[in-house]
Amino acid sequence: MNALEDKITPIRKQMLIGLHLGNGYGSQPGAWRMPGVDPKSYTSFDARVKQAQAAERGKFQFIFLPDGPGAILADIESESPAFNLDVMMTLAAVARETQYIGLVATGSTTFNEPFNLARQFKALDIMSHGRAGWNAITSSGDDVAANYGRRIPSSEDRYGRAHEVIQLIQSLWGSWGKDAWVHNTESGQFAKREEIISINLQGKFVGSRGPLYIPPSEQGQPIIFHAGGSPNTHELAGRFANVVIGAAFTIEDARDQRNAFREAARRFGRNPDEINYIPGLMTTIAKDRRTALDRRILLGRGSFTKRISYLQQMLGVPLDASRLEDPISKTLLENARPSRYDPRSAHALKIAQEGWSVRDILAHGVIDYHPVIVGPGVEAADHMQAWFEAGAADGFWVSPDVNSDGIDAFVDEVIPILQERGLFHKEYAGKTLREHLGAPDQYGVDPRI
Ligand SMILES: Cc1cc2nc3c(=O)[nH]c(=O)nc-3n(C[C@H](O)[C@H](O)[C@H](O)COP(=O)(O)O)c2cc1C
Repeated sequence: MNALEDKITPIRKQMLIGLHLGNGYGSQPGAWRMPGVDPKSYTSFDARVKQAQAAERGKFQFIFLPDGPGAILADIESESPAFNLDVMMTLAAVARETQYIGLVATGSTTFNEPFNLARQFKALDIMSHGRAGWNAITSSGDDVAANYGRRIPSSEDRYGRAHEVIQLIQSLWGSWGKDAWVHNTESGQFAKREEIISINLQGKFVGSRGPLYIPPSEQGQPIIFHAGGSPNTHELAGRFANVVIGAAFTIEDARDQRNAFREAARRFGRNPDEINYIPGLMTTIAKDRRTALDRRILLGRGSFTKRISYLQQMLGVPLDASRLEDPISKTLLENARPSRYDPRSAHALKIAQEGWSVRDILAHGVIDYHPVIVGPGVEAADHMQAWFEAGAADGFWVSPDVNSDGIDAFVDEVIPILQERGLFHKEYAGKTLREHLGAPDQYGVDPRI
């Protein structure tokens, strides 16, 4: 075992929690119209700062900002784009108004030059005193590529470039030795030239001479996150990532995904505990199920009728869009079969069998992107505990329905239960993101890889 491995916290006894911060309204498209929400939050940096502060009050380890970059504007008539105006500017604003919470932004390895990414993330790491994380993704989809006047490259080329970009960026981050910056006013020495080295890397896709002109931060350099699920993803995350932002609907699927990432880390000579698999969780927290469902119905305003045809496919039975108030009849339920093409179908059928009306079935979020908790805080805590203890998750990234009060609801109703059960920390153990994750400081590329 080398020095790096020595410092890894061996088994995670407490879970990690991150907050998903997209457009600032929340994870439901109708969030911008909800009572109490400033409809102009889309362009408000103050709103993001407030939301990050709410998450910091709940001791979340990080906020996570997804990015395209560039959003599809197909629903712009009625919906806000899902992303921040600019993730780095948002995090710069948040860094100045928070003290502990980790700041993680998505940055594409396909549509950025590595030197630009290296200095932006390192500057954020300095500004936040060691709290920056980079979600390194390759971008998928021609809609994003079109913003750069390009077509999306093949998977092989995207991942080939991604491996080079991350190595190069970590080399740039490490181009200043740990103690290179002396700023000694007495001797007049600003920095040790011999500890600041060019990197002179040229690969098939990218290159850089370096060095970067930014010293190490309190955590050395930013943490690498990754998001995705293809075999290419395992290899990239297995080499470089400390956190994987995931998506899974069942414990079994999440456990398989987590194990695949752990196995990939092992293949690259790393300790599997260095990689944390964090699936998503969407929440509507209220005092009881009925209140939570009514909130989702208000949020859904009119969109439920459009979703009926999809629910029909999931359950394999015809549904009448004019009778949203009725439960699905016994005869239909006896014939219903969960679609094998959609992993959410079994859960949708279970909810239908409980006798809820069609509108309420949809209000349970059975067609949303992650498991959804619609009810009191204890239900979210139970879900998180079950997944965590089953080895299906090292933590969760949480997407509240409406940020303006949904983050506080999670902090006040879910976090204390997790803390009482010993599943979540009560205080930040340190000030850097690496300390929050139990990851060792790093300067440059990991020598094992
Ligand atoms: C939970 C999750 C979050 C993701 N977040 C982003 C994101 O913020 N930006 C992005 O461009 N892609 C994001 N992706 C997409 C992945 O990076 C990846 O492109 C996708 O899974 C397709 O895989 P492929 O690139 O191997 O084709 C995300 C994927 C998952 C599962």
